[in-house]
Amino acid sequence: EGTKLWGGRFVGDTDPIMEKFNASITYDRRLWAADVRGSQAYAKALQTAGLVTGDEMKRLLGGLDTVYEEWSSGHFQIKAGDEDVHTANERRLKELIGEVAGKLHTGRSRNDQVVTDMRLWLRDAINTLKGNSLQLISTMVDRAAAEIDILFPGYTHMQRAQPIRWSHWILSHAVALRRDVEKLDETLRRVNVLPLGSGAIAGNPLAIDRELLRKELDFDTISINSMDATGQRDFVVEFLFWASMCLTHLSKMAEDLILYSTKEFSFIQLSDAYSTGSSLMPQKKNADSLELIRSKAGRVFGRCAGFLMILKGLPSTYNKDLQEDKEAMFDTYDTVDAVLQVATGVVSTLQVNRIAMEAALSPDMLATDLAYYLVRKGMPFREAHSCSGKVVFLAEYTCSHTHIQKTCPNADAFSVCVHKIFAFSVEQYSAPGGTARSSINAQIENMRAWLKTHKQ
Ligand code: ARG
Repeated sequence: EGTKLWGGRFVGDTDPIMEKFNASITYDRRLWAADVRGSQAYAKALQTAGLVTGDEMKRLLGGLDTVYEEWSSGHFQIKAGDEDVHTANERRLKELIGEVAGKLHTGRSRNDQVVTDMRLWLRDAINTLKGNSLQLISTMVDRAAAEIDILFPGYTHMQRAQPIRWSHWILSHAVALRRDVEKLDETLRRVNVLPLGSGAIAGNPLAIDRELLRKELDFDTISINSMDATGQRDFVVEFLFWASMCLTHLSKMAEDLILYSTKEFSFIQLSDAYSTGSSLMPQKKNADSLELIRSKAGRVFGRCAGFLMILKGLPSTYNKDLQEDKEAMFDTYDTVDAVLQVATGVVSTLQVNRIAMEAALSPDMLATDLAYYLVRKGMPFREAHSCSGKVVFLAEYTCSHTHIQKTCPNADAFSVCVHKIFAFSVEQYSAPGGTARSSINAQIENMRAWLKTHKQ
């Protein structure tokens, strides 16, 4: 008989390559705190069920405290044969308190243990990511409030569309991130369900009080069906999807900013803190922070798709394939955590070049307004659209913005006048959601009120 938890029925040794292939300790060690916490709750439930005495429970809890202490001080020693974090903790507990350690696993399986650990861990992780997201959103909202006067071109199909406020652009991304936070709250509800007490598949035969376990571990509810509870990882997929969606939003924002930071646009300048140079071309300042943010969406979506592929076609209940849930979850968490912090840094430090932004507004962008002017005079919109389109066509032939500027005897007065026209243009869009000052202010108010309800 080997030293393995499951060694009893084995006579032969595990192939060393198989041993390594099977082990998850190199990455699931991150679950150590959750694992100890889950075990302590389980020790209490064992005592309540009369399966260990009060004294035995105290020894179990004390030993587990030491295990916790060793991990948190960096002194926990992983030994050869520690297959995963559950095995390692139980092995160490036995070294510390002797044979009574062997009672801890009564009625429990690593199948309900591991998924309980995962849920405990993810619950904390989600709270951290929520905090990071809220910080990014509030940075964006503050910026939108401070820079409400700045106008610049709004683009559709990457073509100049209509003049908008810079704040409108910022808020468009903040609103998407707000949806992500709301989605994360929903996900948290489904994460916060206790599987412990499900055993390997069939449930618990020893009258374990699952309600007590729920209270001890602060879960909202207990799982309904032990086969489902041990064999599903919907909550991991949901988290991976959430991350994919959130980073897809941030990749869009990053792409806009990369473009705006080019010399051709010159709308913004990234802070040196979030840029890098070229080893060859001395003049280069690259938006590496934003390019990496853009790339991480692909990485995280790969994790999501990859894990779904593992789940597809799996038979019911626990299969070792499920061990693959961990690297997907940890890597996704680490990635999103970093992206949110870097994005907050980028957004709070970038400089806006108001002159370039407003100089990029060209009179053709008022073509829609011209059509609306005609509509207000009673012309049907379709006719007004065509009329205004003809004006643009003629104007493109005869003059350009820069052409007028060059020939105008008083270029400064001309610029002031043009700015007034654009300022007038944006003010028309005062319906909720629009680019008028009043609408932007309402959006800022709305976001601030929402942020307040999420103060942690
Ligand atoms: N390390 C395993 C995992 O992460 C723990 C569960 C093992 N269960 C089993 N029946 N082999 O999934």
